[in-house]
Amino acid sequence: MPKDTASDSSSRDPASITNPPSLPMRGVAQPTRSSVLGLPQVYISQHPVVAHKISLIRDRDTNPADFYLLVRELGTLLAYEATSDLHTVPNPIETPLEPMTGSKLAGGVGIVPILRAGLGLAEGFRQVLPDAQVWHLGLRRDERTLEPIEYYNQLARAVNLQVCFSVDPMLATGGSAIDALNTLKRYGVPHLRYVGLIAAPYGLMKLREAHPDVPIYLAALDDRLDERGYICPGLGDAGDRQFGTL
Ligand code: PRP
Ligand code: URA
Repeated sequence: MPKDTASDSSSRDPASITNPPSLPMRGVAQPTRSSVLGLPQVYISQHPVVAHKISLIRDRDTNPADFYLLVRELGTLLAYEATSDLHTVPNPIETPLEPMTGSKLAGGVGIVPILRAGLGLAEGFRQVLPDAQVWHLGLRRDERTLEPIEYYNQLARAVNLQVCFSVDPMLATGGSAIDALNTLKRYGVPHLRYVGLIAAPYGLMKLREAHPDVPIYLAALDDRLDERGYICPGLGDAGDRQFGTL
């Protein structure tokens, strides 16, 4: 759940009271849902099972074990949607009855979970893409400034992939997603796609502006960010709720 600001040491720091940090979305009019719905290459799932499971993870009474399973299942469902246009090549095989020409994916697939919260989504992707390469990228939002900070990087260089999915459940200010994609591009990772569960209109707009070439797949688009940068109505803190660090 959102951190209790009363127990956050930065909120007791007199300097932060007289001189509050400037948050990315402060002083900027947040776009409405309807104004970002038509952005190019943004795909919001219309699948009824996705809508059902997203409601379950939003529920404050869903416990961490169930929450993690649901994130994983949603990862699998979104993997179907985000891979529906991948290329295949003919693949000669023999069934028990006769030879035939089947299909196989034309080129490898990469999955980049943004730690921590992207881990559940990545596991869901691996249910349908067990041969995918998985590279971990650790980013956490500074609670005072909301700026992403990189703390772990296991990316490969010189990759030859058909597609690479950066997966992270929450697109709030967009800072983490933009940073992750900047890093992946710096490493030369080709054919990037972003997959998330819930976006705020502000973060979606920022990500679309920063990386217009990257298709964005989401399960839901919410109303707004609150003054602490949480998505509303949202689901709270996706990392804490998956891993029980509440
Ligand atoms: C969450 C979430 C995103 C980020 C989104 O991670 O998983 O990575 O916040 O916020 P943004 O769009 O404003 O950057 P968090 O930093 O809480 O780390 P965690 O996954 O370890 O909980
Ligand atoms: N990160 C989360 O986990 N939840 C939010 O609402 C925003 C950022």
